[in-house]
Amino acid sequence: MKMNKKFVSLTMVAMMGLSLAACGDNESESADNNNADATNTEAPTPEADNSTGDSSDVANKDKPLVWFNRQPSNSSTGELDMAALSFNDNTYYVGFDANQGAELQGAMIKEYIEANIDTIDRNGDGVIGYVLAIGDIGHNDSIARTRGVRKALGTGVEKDGEIDSDPVGTNADGSATVVQDGTLEIGGKTYTVRELASQEMKNSAGATWDAATAGNAIGTWSSSFGDQIDVIASNNDGMGMSMFNAWSKENKVATFGYDANSDAVAAIAEGYGGTISQHADVQAYLTLRVLRNALDGVDVDTGIGTADDAGNVLSADVYTYNADERSYYALNAAVTADNYQDFTDSTKVYEPVSAQLDESTHASKKVWLDIYNASDNFLSSTYQPLLQNYDDLLNLDVEYIGGDGQTESNITNRLGNPSQYDAFAINMVKTDNAASYTSLLSQ
Ligand code: BGC
Repeated sequence: MKMNKKFVSLTMVAMMGLSLAACGDNESESADNNNADATNTEAPTPEADNSTGDSSDVANKDKPLVWFNRQPSNSSTGELDMAALSFNDNTYYVGFDANQGAELQGAMIKEYIEANIDTIDRNGDGVIGYVLAIGDIGHNDSIARTRGVRKALGTGVEKDGEIDSDPVGTNADGSATVVQDGTLEIGGKTYTVRELASQEMKNSAGATWDAATAGNAIGTWSSSFGDQIDVIASNNDGMGMSMFNAWSKENKVATFGYDANSDAVAAIAEGYGGTISQHADVQAYLTLRVLRNALDGVDVDTGIGTADDAGNVLSADVYTYNADERSYYALNAAVTADNYQDFTDSTKVYEPVSAQLDESTHASKKVWLDIYNASDNFLSSTYQPLLQNYDDLLNLDVEYIGGDGQTESNITNRLGNPSQYDAFAINMVKTDNAASYTSLLSQ
């Protein structure tokens, strides 16, 4: 698509034909394309000739692809989108075990109530009241966490064989049908547990898991429920910390989140109840590692279950691999007042996989990676800094794209020239939207 001697010597008709072909070629839009200089009649050197921006001869549809944090799936039924998960032979998902983490979160809250029963019932009415911040009603991790809390506290109601994860709105008197009053026997006494309120924290522009919305919600809830609120549960730390800072810290109401972001872990010293580490240090590694392995043409287990040439390896207690789902899942750990000192820096690489790869045998490659919402607390304060630590160790030159959390096109618009990259790492706005990306790679 550039001008050279041969090109300018062609007849007018042939030239027009070629120009049209050039326009149909998406490389012609590449920013570093030098075809603007139409008067240059000098034959280009072989290097200069490679001005299309192409990273390799591999077709985009065959390049390694990893989905992370949002698993391609139906947001209503949770059914996995296997077409997206097996887009090509080098496609994987990296996330964490949502059900195991959700159980841990529920158990952590229940244990806290049991251990603090003497002081927890703030108005002494025998009802342990809690409010719940829901991240995204169509996100499988969010759904699992809502179910985990309701299951542990006995407030869940079954619907189609599973605990209903719908928000209750408000439920001051316990008469709602989405949830029920649970009971806990503690020290020979029976307490009622009630989900006083829950809602999806979605802002007016459509962003979910929205921390500011949660901060406002606790204002509304505390003015209607006051000292009926004994515990706060949140699907993540971003929303949990927003509620803690706005209200529960001052009112000494234990607040529980998820993600083990550094600020939330630090807040445990000031009364934040606890959080769950989803082992983001392992997930961020796996996200880039599966790409590295595919680019190196080695077995996908290299540096994962099998030590690589630098000695990097993960043990089975920190992740699982489900071949049918083509998914890697990191395992979760509860972080409470008992152990939070071990989790103070959420951006620190996981030591067993922290050895630098040799660039002579693992040449630098270009990766396109997006974070669906640049202002998501977990992704921006924990996950991305970890990715940035691992990309150096794995010799990957990653271009990070930050989305607005609302529209897929805000991100896909910035995947205009996939040919410039060797591999892709995708974090979708909505788990249903994998085809918006794979269609670009299939063109
Ligand atoms: C995290 C949330 C985050 C969400 C974004 C979840 O895994 O726990 O904090 O907002 O991913 O997709």
